[in-house]
Amino acid sequence: MIRLRMSTLYPIGALLVFILVCVQVNYQTNNDFDISLNNYSENLTEEEAAYQRLIMEWPKCEQNMSAANISGFSSLPAHIQQFIYYRHCRHFPVLLDIHDKCGGSEKSSDVFLLLVIKSSPGNFDRREVLRKTWARERQHNGLWIRRIFIAGTAESGVEKDRLNKLLKAEQREYRDILQWDFDESFFNLTLKQILFFEWMKHRCPKVHFLLNGDDDVFANTDGMVEYLRELPDNNGSSHLYTGYVFENTAPVRWSGSKYYIPKQITEFDIYPPYCGGGGYLLSGHTAMAIHNMSVSTEVHPIDDVYIGMCVEKAGLLPTVHTGVKTLGLTIYNQKMDEHDPCYIKGLLLVHRFLPAQMYLMWNKMNDPHLRCGVRFWEDNV
Ligand SMILES: *[C@@H]1O[C@H](CO)[C@@H](O)[C@H](O)[C@H]1NC(C)=O
Ligand SMILES: *[C@@H]1O[C@H](CO)[C@@H](O)[C@H](O)[C@H]1NC(C)=O
Ligand SMILES: *[C@@H]1O[C@H](CO)[C@@H](O)[C@H](O)[C@H]1NC(C)=O
Ligand SMILES: *[C@@H]1O[C@H](CO)[C@@H](O)[C@H](O)[C@H]1NC(C)=O
Ligand SMILES: *[C@@H]1O[C@H](CO)[C@@H](O)[C@H](O)[C@H]1NC(C)=O
Ligand SMILES: *[C@@H]1O[C@H](CO)[C@@H](O)[C@H](O)[C@H]1NC(C)=O
Ligand SMILES: *[C@@H]1O[C@H](CO)[C@@H](O)[C@H](O)[C@H]1NC(C)=O
Repeated sequence: MIRLRMSTLYPIGALLVFILVCVQVNYQTNNDFDISLNNYSENLTEEEAAYQRLIMEWPKCEQNMSAANISGFSSLPAHIQQFIYYRHCRHFPVLLDIHDKCGGSEKSSDVFLLLVIKSSPGNFDRREVLRKTWARERQHNGLWIRRIFIAGTAESGVEKDRLNKLLKAEQREYRDILQWDFDESFFNLTLKQILFFEWMKHRCPKVHFLLNGDDDVFANTDGMVEYLRELPDNNGSSHLYTGYVFENTAPVRWSGSKYYIPKQITEFDIYPPYCGGGGYLLSGHTAMAIHNMSVSTEVHPIDDVYIGMCVEKAGLLPTVHTGVKTLGLTIYNQKMDEHDPCYIKGLLLVHRFLPAQMYLMWNKMNDPHLRCGVRFWEDNV
């Protein structure tokens, strides 16, 4: 049995008071800093400054009430009703911006690969590990890799405020968050993509290439830079849209599915070919072509399908990259280990990794003693 005397409790109490004071002071310093978070008026061109005012003050898009009288509306699941009510929305106010992520629109050609990672506000642990691993901002072979997390808002009330404060704190430290004032949800992912491409047109129009992906994939970003740099005749100013390609897929008409798409959303029975949304590569040129087409393409709730629709409308097609394994690894060899660094070094992207697995894999891959031969991994790990 452990018996605590009063005297042993005093130091603990003092420590608690000390911690409380520190937290309070810290909190206040952070608050002072808030104003400058979005104060980027310095050194902006006139066009950039105008865009800045526009995105901060964009009125919230209103619900389309008459959408409720399309046939069968009342029997649709609630999230689909929400989607239909807000389907026309293309603009929401920006809560967190990073106007100089690419060094301004003119200098954005200095960025070779921009990592655009869809992340929900609550996914703090995933962002933290990505910042330390494959999404670290750096130069590889003299080419710049930059990182942006794109987010909406999550939860409501006090919890929503808490998560927004979390993102602000992360923004202060890392300057890598682009957040808009709309509700995060699976059916709002397309909206997030549309908002990103619109932002990119103003902030980073000249980046060479983009990786568009989820925050739970493992991306071999060094390998991507090497692959992209070696593309013949494409420095980002020609078409590129490559990843795991889905062809001849159809809308899911079973109402129990996460992917359920009723006729009220689309009558089409077949989707155009598209790259799985876990992660795919785009050239800057194709990103802007998608943006151009999206303006006149009705929003479809499955974001990767929507990108395929815009690409098709631009008269372009995706290409298969066998190094992108967004459906998880196919283990075709008993000895194949999906957490083997040599195996992943030969790929571009693997779905899905937990934060601890990412950290371990990144460290193994960057181990100077790692030797990957033809008969890989035998001597290592
Ligand atoms: C915001 O920008 C303005 C104009 O450049 C400047 O005068 C002001 O000091 C800035 N405020 C903060 C908190 O950085
Ligand atoms: C603005 O431009 C001036 C002159 O080019 C430079 O000295 C200053 O550091 C810049 N400020 C910021 C915030 O980039
Ligand atoms: C559809 O809804 C609007 C607004 O709620 C209403 O004014 C209109 O009469 C409805 N139209 C039909 C055809 O029901
Ligand atoms: C609102 O929904 C109705 C019914 O679907 C549609 O006819 C109308 O174009 C929509 N309005 C907007 C602004 O999208
Ligand atoms: C998308 O975001 C808007 C704005 O926050 C919200 O009103 C709507 O319900 C969301 N849609 C879905 C399907 O969650
Ligand atoms: C990219 O290549 C095109 C020709 O294919 C050239 O006109 C353009 O200047 C190049 N851009 C950069 C940034 O090197
Ligand atoms: C997108 O549209 C703009 C303006 O119409 C045009 O200048 C640009 O070439 C288009 N870009 C692509 C890649 O289609």
